[in-house]
Amino acid sequence: MAATAPDQTDQGSYDVEFRSVVKHFGDVKAVDDVSFALKRGSFHSFLGPSGCGKTTSLRLIAGFEQPDAGAIEIAGQSVVGVPAYRRPVNMVFQHYALFPHMDVAANVGYGLRQRKPRPSESEVAARVAEALELVRLPQLASRRVWELSGGQQQRVALARALINRPTVLLLDEPLAALDRKLRREMQIELQNLQREVGITFVLVTHDQEEALSMSDTIGIMKDGKVVQFGTPEELYDAPVNRYVADFVGESNFFPGSVASTDREGATLVTASGLTLRAPYSRLGTRLSPGDRGSIAVRPEAIGLWRPTRVPAGLDVTRPARLLNRIYLGDHSEFQIEAEGLGPVLVRLPKSDEAQELEPGDQVVMGWNHERALALGEG
Ligand SMILES: Nc1ncnc2c1ncn2[C@@H]1O[C@H](COP(=O)(O)OP(=O)(O)O)[C@@H](O)[C@H]1O
Ligand SMILES: [Mg+2]
Repeated sequence: MAATAPDQTDQGSYDVEFRSVVKHFGDVKAVDDVSFALKRGSFHSFLGPSGCGKTTSLRLIAGFEQPDAGAIEIAGQSVVGVPAYRRPVNMVFQHYALFPHMDVAANVGYGLRQRKPRPSESEVAARVAEALELVRLPQLASRRVWELSGGQQQRVALARALINRPTVLLLDEPLAALDRKLRREMQIELQNLQREVGITFVLVTHDQEEALSMSDTIGIMKDGKVVQFGTPEELYDAPVNRYVADFVGESNFFPGSVASTDREGATLVTASGLTLRAPYSRLGTRLSPGDRGSIAVRPEAIGLWRPTRVPAGLDVTRPARLLNRIYLGDHSEFQIEAEGLGPVLVRLPKSDEAQELEPGDQVVMGWNHERALALGEG
């Protein structure tokens, strides 16, 4: 492949591409100048709070909405102006929208029977059986929809979408109605299913754990924009700003005003007068003196000690009081109140000597600069 020119290598390797896509509803910019490209056969998630434009992005891919500006391609073909039913795309909705008066097989075969020319009944039956096999429901073909559990209805909705063999499968918060345990099971099944069929899946969720555990790529959205597009590792290790760091994993944020910067990072002064330094995030926005910013420190990057047992060589140490300890099996979470920093969350493994500390104890907390990140707001 080394001899292939980059533009040829890329050609046809994306299943969905947005270029500067804009969609308004009246004054609301639901999708605001969004560009991204989803690799063929990948699992992508859009993650963000309610109202940030996730569903509208899916509806633009599906063809239920048309963009006001910009270009949309599916499998390398422009689909602007192409109606939903002509696109190689199927959507699974949050409320599965199954037909209650039909049995499972009729629900799953519905899309095929609407095709012109209509496939033979033996072909429909074979494809229904294949789709139900994929979602592991073969024995339930003649059940009525209302006799099914939530998880089973979800599988029927998936089978109904997959039977059309779409290029792209869109999933709008498909697991939101399921309880936690079932949700976890369905997450694993969806991931396995995606690998098995090799179709590009685009999932919308506001659950960061769901997005992180299932996706090849994630787009973090805010106010109609994609703030960062990347792999779960990129988003976790190299967030572009505080908004992303806050959405992906957990961090303590110590806001302040930027006092000085250099190539590697920035020094901030907090409202309480503490000076904190940290390197930039690899993909993060650079800061300038006078900017507002935050030092972000993950709970597992902070240590806790009795005042007499603080190790040498820490870049930051602050006296603190232990407010609460939550036992979580192989690790514990400590809520502390640190002088000049306020409430701080610390996570330590079972083996750590801090496990002996009791609520009310005076402690010292600390970290090293290189375990923290200097991030811009946003
Ligand atoms: N059909 C519509 N008419 C008017 N406003 C809409 C319509 N659909 C979405 N919006 C608005 O666009 C914004 C993005 O909505 P949506 O894409 O549904 O967000 P999400 O799925 O992330 O919760 C919201 O402010 C929402 O109120
Ligand atoms: Mg939505």
